[in-house]
Amino acid sequence: MTSPPDDLRSLETPALLLDASRMEANIERMHAQARRLGVRLRPHLKTSKSVEVARRTLRQDIGPITVSTLKEADHFAEHGFTDILYAVGITPGKLDHALRLRARGVELGLVLDNVDAARAVVSAAESAGVRLSVLLEIDCDGHRSGLQPEGDELLAVADALRSHWVSVAGVMTHAGESYNCRTPESLCAMAEQERAAAVRAAQRLRDTGHAAPVVSVGSTPTALSAAQLDGVTELRAGVFVFFDLVMAGVGVCAVQDIALSVLTTVIGHQRDKGWTIVDAGWMALSRDRGTASQPVDQGYGLVCDVAGRVLPGLVMASANQEHGIVALRDGSTGAPPELPVGTLLRIVPNHACATGAQHAQYHVLDGRGRVTERWPRFSGW
Ligand SMILES: Cc1ncc(COP(=O)(O)O)c(C=O)c1O
Repeated sequence: MTSPPDDLRSLETPALLLDASRMEANIERMHAQARRLGVRLRPHLKTSKSVEVARRTLRQDIGPITVSTLKEADHFAEHGFTDILYAVGITPGKLDHALRLRARGVELGLVLDNVDAARAVVSAAESAGVRLSVLLEIDCDGHRSGLQPEGDELLAVADALRSHWVSVAGVMTHAGESYNCRTPESLCAMAEQERAAAVRAAQRLRDTGHAAPVVSVGSTPTALSAAQLDGVTELRAGVFVFFDLVMAGVGVCAVQDIALSVLTTVIGHQRDKGWTIVDAGWMALSRDRGTASQPVDQGYGLVCDVAGRVLPGLVMASANQEHGIVALRDGSTGAPPELPVGTLLRIVPNHACATGAQHAQYHVLDGRGRVTERWPRFSGW
């Protein structure tokens, strides 16, 4: 077993590690893809919730971003980001907050998919005398919310937004079903389905007199699999910055690309059961079991040595709040490696967004596995 650098040894575990060179390579890959496709990148920052990661994701201090909470919008606005898409359907109770963001100069894009929300937006914008910009959410794959691109409701919602104070800026869609694709061909087809639905919906809005200049699509699997994005103006992707085991299972990255891991320490054994107990449970890794429905179930995470090399045959089979149980995978033969108490391990997570959310900071590793910086991250609403 590799002896860990002193600075990893001195970290109190569990601790969230971020491999900066892997992250940089992942970011470069998505920028190259956006360049090839001729679209602007509007990264989703819900994965990192960190200003330091955001600046590196954008490759500059500010730029267009996507967020999943108004708290993210506040936080990034405080750090100079002014072009923000809040990509979760707006509710009447959040409109005062949205107006506060507008008052501080944020170009805030709102998203909705129903007439009730549209009326609430119009009423709030008119009473405040503040312009609000809306993207209509399109359902491109039956995954969750959104308007049907061919449906009458699309036009009814757009009509409900007709007001001097509101602009129908366009459409957005997210092909969440791409997470269930398993082949490059099905991913490419899903990317085209996502593109076609958004472009068609935008065209229908334009045909009825709405400007709708923005056509926003994206998930990491479709963004990396699209053959072309004709008619699309921007690409939203989030988890690509770190990748995770779910993305490796989908086939859009390798395990070696995953930039996030949780450093943990062996605290004991149940040798008769073949268990090694570590001090990272679901509190450190999250309860996400996104690989359970994939061909390779990675339990609560893939087990690596302190240098990040996969320990073959091992998996985090089970997790309590602060205890993780490392064991041989079903079907593995041979003896588990000797992992004495005090051994440092790294657990690669199923879902980077969920695991990141359990931690207050990233311990940033350089190419030699040394901690060079600590970047805070935030959470909550
Ligand atoms: C609306 C929206 N856009 C973009 C994304 C980014 O998707 P991914 O993390 O697969 O890149 C998400 C993720 O959930 C999303 O909800």
